[in-house]
Amino acid sequence: MASEPIGKSRTALITGASAGIGREIALVFASEGFHLVLVARRKDRLEALAQETKGKYGVETHIIAADLSDPATPRRLFDDLAAQHIMIDALVNNAGYSVTGYFRDTKWADQAGLIQVMVTSYAELCHLFGPGMAARGYGRIINVASLAGHLPGAAGGTLYAAAKSFVIKMSESLSLENIGNNVHVTALCPGFTYSEFHDVAGNREQMNKLPKFIWMTGDVVARQAYDAVMEGRPVIINGRINNFIALLARLLPQRLVHGLMARNKRNAVARTKTENAA
Ligand SMILES: NC(=O)c1ccc[n+]([C@@H]2O[C@H](COP(=O)([O-])OP(=O)(O)OC[C@H]3O[C@@H](n4cnc5c(N)ncnc54)[C@H](OP(=O)(O)O)[C@@H]3O)[C@@H](O)[C@H]2O)c1
Repeated sequence: MASEPIGKSRTALITGASAGIGREIALVFASEGFHLVLVARRKDRLEALAQETKGKYGVETHIIAADLSDPATPRRLFDDLAAQHIMIDALVNNAGYSVTGYFRDTKWADQAGLIQVMVTSYAELCHLFGPGMAARGYGRIINVASLAGHLPGAAGGTLYAAAKSFVIKMSESLSLENIGNNVHVTALCPGFTYSEFHDVAGNREQMNKLPKFIWMTGDVVARQAYDAVMEGRPVIINGRINNFIALLARLLPQRLVHGLMARNKRNAVARTKTENAA
């Protein structure tokens, strides 16, 4: 007899589920029998995904169209779900983007938005949902970081690597704090992954020049994320090439690593300079 899917009657909340890696992670959780709470701004995308997961896997999906750059959103999400007696067993903090261009050329509102979406909301959602998971003796948290969090900061996209380093360190601490209560916390660190990320960042043209072998697909990244959090791994870097890059960054003399980073101009595109001047 086939065994019951382990997610049966459990619920996973995934932010940034309307596209890319978040959408793929939602599909993996649904395939494992988790009901879903999907969060992003584009409601139509979430509705289409809810139809797809119901048709393919028969799971229930609750949609919340919300902007995580609003500081009130994490608390509102938590209160709305509590009012509806929807308990969250798995949390995937995934929503994110990069503000390209040099720091001096960007608007502070855009940088503050990045910190709110990719730092504060990740931390606050862990803080809100983590205690209930610990009390019930089951929790799975994936915080989507990046290979960038393991490398020195690049010129341009200034706060991106900083935010991702934060996410890695926070996840490592939370992972240790939850030993013994069956709450696993994993920082997911993909490298270049096909999604809408670089269209939003405005550097698709530069990215298309990169060799195909360094790219991964969202479905592979998502499956690795799921398996890693179920195994209780605090950090996962996706793919052999990305692991090799992270290893080099740790082992090579730092002067050399910083010298190599100085050659990376991909995030320095002047998009924000013109757009932000508007
Ligand atoms: N793609 C890569 O190469 C790569 C590499 C390493 C790490 N990552 C990380 O992976 C995560 C997912 O990125 P992706 O590559 O899948 O990019 P993506 O295809 O552009 O998806 C980003 C998701 O974040 C959501 N989002 C953005 N701003 C939001 C906001 N203010 N409020 C709520 N939701 C918001 C978007 O939904 P709406 O627009 O509908 O709100 C979308 O669902 C990010 O944290 C990113 O930093 C990506």
